[in-house]
Amino acid sequence: MRTYSSNAQLQSALRGFRHSGQSIGFVPTMGNLHEGHLDLVRKARQLCDIVVVSIFVNPLQFGPSDDLDAYPRTLAADKEKLFSEGVQVLYTPGVKDIYPEGMQAQTLVHVPDLGETLCGSSRPGHFDGVTTVVSKLFNIVQPDIAVFGEKDFQQLSIVRKMVKDLCIPINIVGVATTRDEDGLAKSSRNGYLSFEQRRIAPTLNQTLNSCREAIACGFDNFFELESHARIKLLQAGFDADYFAVRDAHTLLAVTEDTEEIAILAAACLGSTRLIDNVRLSLNPVSDWGMLASGH
Ligand code: PAJ
Repeated sequence: MRTYSSNAQLQSALRGFRHSGQSIGFVPTMGNLHEGHLDLVRKARQLCDIVVVSIFVNPLQFGPSDDLDAYPRTLAADKEKLFSEGVQVLYTPGVKDIYPEGMQAQTLVHVPDLGETLCGSSRPGHFDGVTTVVSKLFNIVQPDIAVFGEKDFQQLSIVRKMVKDLCIPINIVGVATTRDEDGLAKSSRNGYLSFEQRRIAPTLNQTLNSCREAIACGFDNFFELESHARIKLLQAGFDADYFAVRDAHTLLAVTEDTEEIAILAAACLGSTRLIDNVRLSLNPVSDWGMLASGH
């Protein structure tokens, strides 16, 4: 595995692979790698000849009260994991490589609507930071495909829209959420949880699944389902940021045209913010149309 911090050296190595006709799969990360990240790497390996992983804790996507300084940096352990997975290229730029003129002077990429709801409204500027760094990384690496996790479902939707709107010739591949045995979605932030908080944490996924089951059984008062879920989370010890039943494609309210529902939640245990989501296909669509319109 070759590791590059310099954009020029990375690009020259990748040119070599491209010229010899090898396809390039890209997995952008912020490091502190766990099985969730490694599942993305495995997917990229299945689909491409060469896998490039980036590790960059992107300051532009952290708010003033976020955990940028405390974000876990575990490069040596990350390298070992990536090497074991057969990754050929690791890209570890510094802040100066990505923002040579500083973050204030950086041109921003903004995805409207999708980027403004849910996590976008509770973390202003967060998704502009994500889309800006992802588009820069895409232009530096120029992969054929890029792999993202469904755990960050809103992020995945936003990246898909950005790629479509800006005609970026990269195929975006989503990978299902990797979970611990008790359902908790793997996350770098799980390491912040105390023993007691870790015991409570799976309630987030359980609450999402209960809501999903209720909808699958035909219960269509989403407002009531959302309120019930928030109360359940509060009782378990969470401070719920949002719990929302949405159209999986628009991330707006469910309508008669909705083909798939996403139930998304963000909630804090102490100062640790956890997010998760589950989805439900509405099949056949015509039956759901009647349900949604109350007929
Ligand atoms: P990070 O949180 O490190 O996540 C990197 C990728 O791993 C994302 O696509 C995320 O959705 C995926 N991932 C994390 N946990 C997962 C899990 N349990 N199952 C499946 N996939 C999982 O997301 C970011 O970094 C950044 O915003 C980034 C896209 C790198 C831009 O800075």
